[in-house]
Amino acid sequence: MSETIRFPGDFLWGAATSAYQVEGSPLADGAGPSIWHRFSHTPGRTLRGETGDVACDQYHRFADDVALMRELGLNAYRFSISWSRILPAGKGTVNPRGLDFYDRLIDALLAHGLAPVVTLYHWDLPAALDDLGGWLNRDVAHWFAEYARVVVRAFDDRVRLWATVNEPWVVADGGYLTGGLAPGHRNLFEAPRVSHNLLRAHGAAVQAYRAEGKRQIGLVLNLEPKHPASDSPEDLAATRRADAYMNRHYLEPVVRGAYPAELAEIFGEAWPDVTDADLRLIRQPIDFLGINYYTRGVTRADPQTLPLRASSVRQPHPWYTETDWEVYPAGLTETLVWVRERCGDLPLYVTENGAAFADEPPVNGRVDDPRRVEYYRGHLAAALDALRRGVNLRGYFAWSLLDNYEWSHGYSKRFGIVHVDFATQRRTPKASARFYASVVRSRGAALFSAPSAAPA
Ligand code: FCB
Repeated sequence: MSETIRFPGDFLWGAATSAYQVEGSPLADGAGPSIWHRFSHTPGRTLRGETGDVACDQYHRFADDVALMRELGLNAYRFSISWSRILPAGKGTVNPRGLDFYDRLIDALLAHGLAPVVTLYHWDLPAALDDLGGWLNRDVAHWFAEYARVVVRAFDDRVRLWATVNEPWVVADGGYLTGGLAPGHRNLFEAPRVSHNLLRAHGAAVQAYRAEGKRQIGLVLNLEPKHPASDSPEDLAATRRADAYMNRHYLEPVVRGAYPAELAEIFGEAWPDVTDADLRLIRQPIDFLGINYYTRGVTRADPQTLPLRASSVRQPHPWYTETDWEVYPAGLTETLVWVRERCGDLPLYVTENGAAFADEPPVNGRVDDPRRVEYYRGHLAAALDALRRGVNLRGYFAWSLLDNYEWSHGYSKRFGIVHVDFATQRRTPKASARFYASVVRSRGAALFSAPSAAPA
């Protein structure tokens, strides 16, 4: 890889979070409950029954977090808006105090030279809408567009990029098929209908945006290269199914207006009939694609694992994160090049990339997290490699700014570049934050200095 190429001067350098994972105070100032509030308060759903009631208390501490990002030299912050703060019942009456919180956050970001990058939906559907069927109800596309209109009218003058839905695959798979995420259903017939409604809602929000907004709007997908465990025809077919299910399931309807043929084979009778009008709604031109990249999947045929009849194989080499994800930086370049082949010059952003490792608590104000430093070094070099190959990559966001509430894992998985002591809310930038800051400052040159040179 060429060591002379650098990241462009106008590159967006950020960190990402989501509302339920960092804000805390989910019912403050007139907010309605979300499905995550309900799920985490249901016995047995999350590790040790942990909830996002306090999380990182960003609801009250956002000014400190903004100042910290500024100190690290970042120029963008990706956060999500909680739908039920804005519309406590999901639709109808707007709660001005909910808008007010984000208004203050956005102004603080701009005052510190950080571009606000806003996700409209990061998994926290208003519970009142879940009572009406939630993502299973086709009306959700109208509800989502109504909510989008409200926040776009309030903030479009100050937001750089809007993302509609974060990781629709995870919403459908975790929320409606395997059930580990809110609302915790396990139903083969529901999952593909939910995927379809998520994409319809995305399309309806983009349409609403074109009538109201002047900035840029896109979608965030989690993409994962699927590699066959062997050359056997069974493993190759399983790999195609896994790729169709997780990756092409979302990208192809948005950019081509059609679902991959494998989905009907995977879901059988559970795959719904799809109208042309729906596909037209889904295929709205987007201004950028956000890609969340964490790992790859090495795939083998496995008739017992339904509906995919495929499962992932653990690799013999030892580098896995604490969430059991293989560390595989080359997969980021591969993913970006793969998207370029399908979307041409569409601007791309890495909207999430990062790793959980069990860090030691701070000692004398320092947290050494050498594995996370190496994770970032490898993946940022992979992003640079994609740029070298002509990918139109415009920005990168570390997941996450802060150790935070990792959904059903509660507080047990630390993804932050900044350590959070959840008893005191004290923030301590880890060595990985300093390393990332040095990469930002040098536009990538610091990636090629010796590992031991990572500043403390
Ligand atoms: C992604 C989610 C994000 C976080 C990371 C670890 O799938 O978008 O909220 O949980 O994984």
